[in-house]
Amino acid sequence: MELSEKVDIVVKNSSGNDNNPLFFILDRRHPELNEYFEQGLKSQNATNFSHLFYMYYLQTFALHLNRYSIRRTGVEFNNKVLIIGYGAVAKCTLPILLRHVNIPLENITIIDFKDKAQDLKAWTSGGLQFFKRKVTPDDLPQILAEYLSAGGLLIDLAWNIDCCEMVQWCHDHNVLYVNTSVEAWDPDAEKFTAGPYEKTLYYRQMKLHELTKDWHEGPTSVVDHGANPGLISHFARQGLVDIARRMIADGIAPDPGHMDGLIREQNFARLAMETGIKVIHCSERDTQISRSPKKVDEFVGTWCIEGLREEGTAPAEIGWGTHEKELPDQAHIPPVGPKNEILLARMGINTWVRSWLPHHEIVGMVIRHGEAFGISDRWTVWNEGRAIYRPTVHYAYLPCDATIASLHELRGRNYELQPKLRILNDREIISGSDILGALLMGHPYKSWWTGSILSIEEAKTLAPGQNATTVQVALGVVTAVMWMIANPKKGFCLPDDLPHECVLEIARPYLGEFYSGPSDWTPLKNRKVYFKENPENDYDYDDVWQFKNFLFVR
Ligand SMILES: NC(=O)c1ccc[n+]([C@@H]2O[C@H](COP(=O)([O-])OP(=O)(O)OC[C@H]3O[C@@H](n4cnc5c(N)ncnc54)[C@H](O)[C@@H]3O)[C@@H](O)[C@H]2O)c1
Repeated sequence: MELSEKVDIVVKNSSGNDNNPLFFILDRRHPELNEYFEQGLKSQNATNFSHLFYMYYLQTFALHLNRYSIRRTGVEFNNKVLIIGYGAVAKCTLPILLRHVNIPLENITIIDFKDKAQDLKAWTSGGLQFFKRKVTPDDLPQILAEYLSAGGLLIDLAWNIDCCEMVQWCHDHNVLYVNTSVEAWDPDAEKFTAGPYEKTLYYRQMKLHELTKDWHEGPTSVVDHGANPGLISHFARQGLVDIARRMIADGIAPDPGHMDGLIREQNFARLAMETGIKVIHCSERDTQISRSPKKVDEFVGTWCIEGLREEGTAPAEIGWGTHEKELPDQAHIPPVGPKNEILLARMGINTWVRSWLPHHEIVGMVIRHGEAFGISDRWTVWNEGRAIYRPTVHYAYLPCDATIASLHELRGRNYELQPKLRILNDREIISGSDILGALLMGHPYKSWWTGSILSIEEAKTLAPGQNATTVQVALGVVTAVMWMIANPKKGFCLPDDLPHECVLEIARPYLGEFYSGPSDWTPLKNRKVYFKENPENDYDYDDVWQFKNFLFVR
């Protein structure tokens, strides 16, 4: 397919001055794209190479939208929108959001403490406003009041802005709110004095619960809705339904009518119990590689480096299944709340487990993530105040090679971040994919992985300038926004409170290969004992799904 078949670029001279033309991209078959691109491209200067480069990206984007038949959904939002942070995820989110939701550009404000004016020129010339400002504890309410009003939408894509304060403000001012991770002001402040409980996401969830427990109706807030946490909850539900349907089809469901009823009722906790799921990993391998290798004293990654360091050096958190027989070393049980997690007094980046994704075994890090709380909480079956079923849930993350090397250097630096940080964009990445899914284990098929295998080639056409990782995160944000606009009075929500079919229907065209299928993998399947004298080889062969069998080094 030639570019010329689908897209014409018409250069119009606005003022008779050849040095200052207006650009419009016109798509013959999809005229609705014109308006969208015109908004972004008005007033671009043809002599400026970067603008031409940007136009090339937009053309590729247009082609992709045609090829994949991604449809404009016709959702309208005419109130004010504030986006805090214009980094890797926000850059990727903005064009996809505007593809799906019609928002007048002049209603959108973006703030970032770094100067992003040049990056945003194509949008600001269409009416979007950018301000270089830092959100601090002192001026948060004032900034929100300045750029938002009742009925508006706040999208938090920065880091370390207290989630409780934003949720409270949005509740009080009837504003919709979404973020991709639950954060707090200065998480490093008490890192040497606070106990493991105070340093956890579980602690932040308890604060959010305390804050929101009496809000029966109110403006919708969705926290933790990126890729993981976020889409991973929907992958897990889809995988669970696929397993149950396969059991019914294969004639191995003990009571097929009952199982079918649980699918229809969307009773995921009971369904997980009755299919026999014991463990769920959010298993992710990032195979993206850059043409420019990591240099000494440089941290290279595919998403927020400050965020990865913060969560990676915090305690590992694990949604703790009711089938587990023994606690691992350094395990703490939270003093309050549903106690659905255990908290390890050791860093997530130094806690390694075996896991699996299509089609090989990995060793990944148990970095704390919202899904360990959300999925394990929502998939608990309670009976008279006692948890009678809950799966073990945690992350198993194998980041890209450059990040593995960066983390190793970080350990040598006693966890002081390198002076230079680099998030890889699509021009630097020469190959690779982000393979991200829910690995559901313990049922009759042993393991079952459901998720996204998104290559850099596909990501490039989906969101010019971005990488496979940020596209997946952006879809979490866009789907949450669309659901909130349609459901503005749902109060406080975790990803597990959103309907997975609706989210996946919008997200799927952007996720590359959407894979859902079984594997006979278990954590002991390929295990070889090299040192029989080492007590770490004391595996539990009676129940292969015990946490100690997954641990790479205890
Ligand atoms: N759930 C997920 O799947 C997922 C995945 C990746 C990232 N995230 C989260 O998304 C967020 C953004 O990630 P990213 O990769 O885009 O990070 P990034 O570092 O590329 O971008 C963040 C931007 O926010 C700005 N910023 C930070 N604090 C600010 C403040 N107080 N005031 C104004 N601007 C501020 C920074 O200058 C930066 O430009 C992070 O919280 C990260 O943890 C979630």
